[in-house]
Amino acid sequence: MNTSSLLPIAGRATQTAIELNARASDTFAAKLAETVALLKQAAQNGPVTQASSLGAEDMVITHLINAHQLPISIFVLETGALHAETLALLEQLKAQQAAHPQAPLTVYTPVQESVVQFVAREGKDAMYKSIELRKACCGIRKMEPLGRALAGQKGWLTGLRREQSGARAEVPLIDTAEVATKGLVKYNPLANWTWGDVWHYIAENKVAYNPLHDQFYPSIGCAPCTRAISLGEDFRAGRWWWEDEAAKECGLHVKQKEGAAA
Ligand code: ADX
Ligand code: SF4
Repeated sequence: MNTSSLLPIAGRATQTAIELNARASDTFAAKLAETVALLKQAAQNGPVTQASSLGAEDMVITHLINAHQLPISIFVLETGALHAETLALLEQLKAQQAAHPQAPLTVYTPVQESVVQFVAREGKDAMYKSIELRKACCGIRKMEPLGRALAGQKGWLTGLRREQSGARAEVPLIDTAEVATKGLVKYNPLANWTWGDVWHYIAENKVAYNPLHDQFYPSIGCAPCTRAISLGEDFRAGRWWWEDEAAKECGLHVKQKEGAAA
């Protein structure tokens, strides 16, 4: 048997993300049932919308919304700095959601004038110069459009999982921390899922996924701020890798307390 195709090339395994990761945990069936129940509850207490970065977790959530025909809209923040692979998957998702009118997809882009002025003033590599400039870029490209995406909603769904990082270790299924300030319930339907559970679901249900996951990108954001990880590195090691662990959130999921500390 020719095993050369199984050997790592330049430190990279040639297995797909499914082959490498799809391994359901013992309690997967119970977690899936809990997730579906939560999605139905969220839909009932709507309007509610799913934030999709087109990462593996988000593709699973969208698949569940479609499978159960839930009235949950979907939005993508197209920052203008996404990888070509992510943009190609976005086109696929648009076509897919056209067949699910109860779960329409909306793409939010930043205010072009703000982007142009910021890049002219600070340069296109501003995010590497300081945390302040990086957060300013996230503010223009993600946070302002997020505000528009969430306007008029009672809740939103994210793909946050506890396993993703220390900062996310206590992510609840239902997060009511933003109810008082923003009037929004945040649902994290995959909070308890492992990475193996996510890929098991993707494999079982033939869910389309970002091919960057096959190239050691477990967590995918904007192209300038995302790199592949090496063996043994943390899940989010490829995000804003030049910054301290504590700073590594773009603001989308920063709690009031943490934001103030930052
Ligand atoms: S981030 O805060 O570091 O960027 P991460 O990439 O882990 O977040 O994604 C966590 C969740 O935030 C995703 O599952 C998704 O719900 C939401 N999210 C992140 N990026 C986007 C995006 N570009 N558009 C919509 N939702 C997003
Ligand atoms: Fe800008 Fe990087 Fe934030 Fe994307 S992740 S908005 S490119 S700083």
